[in-house]
Amino acid sequence: MKYGSEIIGVGSFVPPKVFTNFDLEKILDTTDEWIQQRTGIVERHWVDPETSNSDLGLEASLRAISNAGIDKKDIDMIIYATLTPDHEFPGTGCFLQAKLDVPEIAVLDIRQQCTGFIYALSIADKFILSGSHKNILIVGSEVHSKGLDLTPNGRNVSVLFGDGAGAVIVSRKELADPKKDSHVIATQLFADGAFAKELWIPAPGAACGKEQINHQMLEEGLQYPHMNGKTVFVHATKRMAECLVSVCKEANLNLADIDLFLFHQANLRINSKVAEMLSIPEGKVFNTIQNYGNTTAATIPLGMDDAIKAGVLKKGMLVASAAFGSGFTWGSTIFRY
Ligand code: UT7
Repeated sequence: MKYGSEIIGVGSFVPPKVFTNFDLEKILDTTDEWIQQRTGIVERHWVDPETSNSDLGLEASLRAISNAGIDKKDIDMIIYATLTPDHEFPGTGCFLQAKLDVPEIAVLDIRQQCTGFIYALSIADKFILSGSHKNILIVGSEVHSKGLDLTPNGRNVSVLFGDGAGAVIVSRKELADPKKDSHVIATQLFADGAFAKELWIPAPGAACGKEQINHQMLEEGLQYPHMNGKTVFVHATKRMAECLVSVCKEANLNLADIDLFLFHQANLRINSKVAEMLSIPEGKVFNTIQNYGNTTAATIPLGMDDAIKAGVLKKGMLVASAAFGSGFTWGSTIFRY
């Protein structure tokens, strides 16, 4: 019997507080017009001071577990993707595990930024196909708002990011008909560390000399994300298009066979460009950046949940997903939902 990994439950959570571009105009040297024209973003959600990353992850996880119709005790592994952890260590997955009260199961944190969810799905698929695990909870969660530079120096980055979480339960399934049954068909993962400093947080870190952080570094704003936006944009469009084509080839499918494209949400212009390069009809691309901004590792499961709620993603559909981000990392997947 052939086994596969099926996504049996999806959930998401965004904090209630909404920050529109007009709210940002009041605290940053920016305009609604600039943000919408360059990125497509209209608003994003930002947490209250007392809310942590694992709080968002918990809410999304509870919804995914409920939608999967399983008991939380059936989960045998958690994979947690984030670049805004609760603490430097241990990983945020451990904090979530305690809040979810599922002791002793394996917990793995991964740091693949915007590509985090696709890396996590690929890892989960491999554990499931090996036969060692049966129900894996994947969480992508971010609290960006507490780490943004709201001075004029940071405006190119700070207007982009939002807070939120998405989660899925991936479960082992016997495939009676691999061509028709819901499962992860292929995943492809890539990285090129030569571009690590094109989008990164320079400090604190063990590479920062004698101290991990000092007053001078803080004054220089090294604790905030720094991005060379144009370089990231160019590589993002090229790599996302490339890895969509190659994952289709691996799955023996044509792009025209795909029912729905769930891309990472960094910029509407990136997604339109990728769709144009590959002649994908815009109507097949489901975007959420308008309301959430870029929620990094959360974007794809958050978008998946919204697509289900909107009736756009239905059981049995063929879905392709691609992401690109800091690292540089990028990756793609095709699954039948
Ligand atoms: O998910 C992680 C991956 N991240 C991405 O994929 C992001 C990829 N990059 C981008 O999406 C775009 O590069 C941005 C949206 C970040 C920026 O758009 P851009 O068209 O590349 O703008 P730019 O950085 O070249 O800046 C153009 C102008 C500059 O002014 P001058 O030099 O032309 O006078 C900036 O100072 O826009 C100015 N600017 C702003 N103006 C108002 C930069 N940020 C802002 C802002 N509000 N927030």
